[in-house]
Amino acid sequence: MELRPLSKVDGLAVHRLVGECPPLDLNSVYVYLLLSEHFSDTCVLAENAGVVNGFISAYMPPARPEVLFVWQVAVHSRARGHGLARLMLWNLLERPGLSGIRYIETTVGPDNAASRNVFAGIARQLRAPVVDSPLFERELFGAGEHADERLLRIGPFDASPRQAQAGGHFTKEAPGL
Ligand SMILES: CC(C)(COP(=O)(O)OP(=O)(O)OC[C@H]1O[C@@H](n2cnc3c(N)ncnc32)[C@H](O)[C@@H]1OP(=O)(O)O)[C@@H](O)C(=O)NCCC(=O)NCCS
Repeated sequence: MELRPLSKVDGLAVHRLVGECPPLDLNSVYVYLLLSEHFSDTCVLAENAGVVNGFISAYMPPARPEVLFVWQVAVHSRARGHGLARLMLWNLLERPGLSGIRYIETTVGPDNAASRNVFAGIARQLRAPVVDSPLFERELFGAGEHADERLLRIGPFDASPRQAQAGGHFTKEAPGL
C-alpha cells in the first residue's frame, strides 16, 4: 500500500472512490482536480498496485495555519477495518510541511458512528481533547435530506507524542490491502 500526496491523474479515480463510499457527498471531478492542483500537500491517496483504496482531502483554513481541516475520508469497502483511515491521517500529520499543525477539525453527521470513531481514535493517540459544537445546521443545505454537520475540534497536540505514536502505528499489519 502506497500513501502519497494527490496528483492530477488521480482525480477521476478519487471521484469514483468517493461515489462508492456513501454517505459522503460526491463532488464533481473538477473539485478533485482542483484539490490535486492546489491542496496536494494536505491530501493523501492510498493505492495498491494501481488500485485506489483510500483518500483524504484536507486543507489549512486561511489565517489558521495551526489547523488541519479534514474534509472527506473515504476507504473502499474492500480495504476497511485495517486501520487505513487512521494510517492516512497519520501520513498527513507526519509530513514536514504540516509539523506546525496543533488541531484537527472536521465535521460529522450525528449518525456517522464510523466517522466519530475514526476521529475519537486519533484524539486518543494524540492524547488530545475533543470539542464537539454546532457548525452547519441541516436547513443550510436547502431542500432534500442532509443531516446537521457538527464540528469536531481535536487538540491542542504537539509534535513529540505524535512522533512517538506514529512509530508504533506504522508497524500495524494490514493483511490483504
Ligand atoms: C469510515 C471509514 C473511512 C473508516 O475506514 P477504515 O480504514 O475502515 O477505518 P479504521 O480501520 O482506520 O478505523 C479507525 C477507527 O474507527 C472505527 N471504525 C471504522 N469503521 C467503523 C464503523 N463502520 N463503525 C464503527 N466504528 C468504525 C474502528 O473500529 C477504529 O476504532 P479504534 O480506533 O477504536 O480501533 C470507512 O468506513 C468509509 O470510507 N466509510 C464511508 C465514508 C465515510 O463515512 N467517511 C467519513 C468517515 S471519517
